[in-house]
Amino acid sequence: MHNEGKLFKSSYPKSFRDLVGTNGVITAQGDQHRKLHTIASNMMRSDTLKTCFLKDIQMVLNQTFAGLHHNQTILLQDVCRKLAINLMVNQLLGVSSDKEVGEMAQLFSDFVDGCLSLPINLPGFAYHTAMNARNNIIRKINKIIRHTRRHGVGYDGGLVGRLVVEGSLPDEAIADFIINLLFAGNETTAKTMLFAIYFLTHSPLAYNQLLVIDETLRLGGIAIWLMREAKEDVEYQVVHQDENFYEGATTFNPFRWMDPKNLEKANWRNNPFYSPFGGGSRLCPGVELARLQIALFLHYFVMSYRWSQVKEDKMSFFPSARLINGFPIKLYKITGYI
Ligand code: HEM
Repeated sequence: MHNEGKLFKSSYPKSFRDLVGTNGVITAQGDQHRKLHTIASNMMRSDTLKTCFLKDIQMVLNQTFAGLHHNQTILLQDVCRKLAINLMVNQLLGVSSDKEVGEMAQLFSDFVDGCLSLPINLPGFAYHTAMNARNNIIRKINKIIRHTRRHGVGYDGGLVGRLVVEGSLPDEAIADFIINLLFAGNETTAKTMLFAIYFLTHSPLAYNQLLVIDETLRLGGIAIWLMREAKEDVEYQVVHQDENFYEGATTFNPFRWMDPKNLEKANWRNNPFYSPFGGGSRLCPGVELARLQIALFLHYFVMSYRWSQVKEDKMSFFPSARLINGFPIKLYKITGYI
């Protein structure tokens, strides 16, 4: 992660680049990458969270929880996926009406499905559906750009609107930029939320103290689709589950992060032994936003429901991080909170 451009170069297949766009931060290289990365980091840095994101995250969480009822059995994996997509639609595009969120969420979902599918651009294939979704998303983004130009700052166009007002990118580069954020910030957030609840279900002590995000990210192996081209032969090791650095490395133990000798390790910005958000020049620019979304989700979920697991489940990492049965749980609503 800290060797971008030295030992490794970030590198994705053409089919993926065509889908996420060549003007986005994930596939860009060199100076263009540095510029886009800085814009992304600035748009989502911690002091923007309260002014630009907090209220909307709470609104989307409320909308989601309003549809989860007492005694209902749900597949939490599906709920988290939909929630993460709705959060992205709302925050990137400023969309909040149920109808529009629904329409855009379907396009986002089709798009994300195609990113990890066979790249066959023919009707009936997920990749083709994703390409169509990409074109429709671009149309919607261009419409928001035009509205923002017409109405100025008064128009709430989410992150797209802020980009237009700040003028940091030419209009024709905005769509790819946004689509890259959509891809990077969707599955990762959804799976961290899901795995955190999965681990909490089996750890009543942690549930009581809700200390889980760092440990979920260590053990969850969430961001697994990062591609690199090695510029020379390199030997590498995976650190998050190495016994030399983490005692009982394959066990979920969030209390390890309270141990003073792990305090330095918890610094995910530059500790080489803990890097769930990557590192170096490609360190995740959405990290603060992701942590806020996940923390709020956990807070509201735990305060609003008790739950019981309906069927055994286990984690799997191919083709993507998931729980194989989707984590069916029965909900018991705690009255009076939301
Ligand atoms: C728990 C949630 C998340 C995890 C675990 C995560 C993890 C990562 C990791 C490991 C990278 C490095 C990729 C690489 O080295 O090639 C990365 C990059 C990135 N992330 Fe995140 N991420 C999360 C949420 C988000 C969110 C919410 C957004 C934005 C809405 C976001 C936007 C990005 C972008 C744009 C990049 C590419 C940066 C670059 O290549 O310069 N991420 N993320």
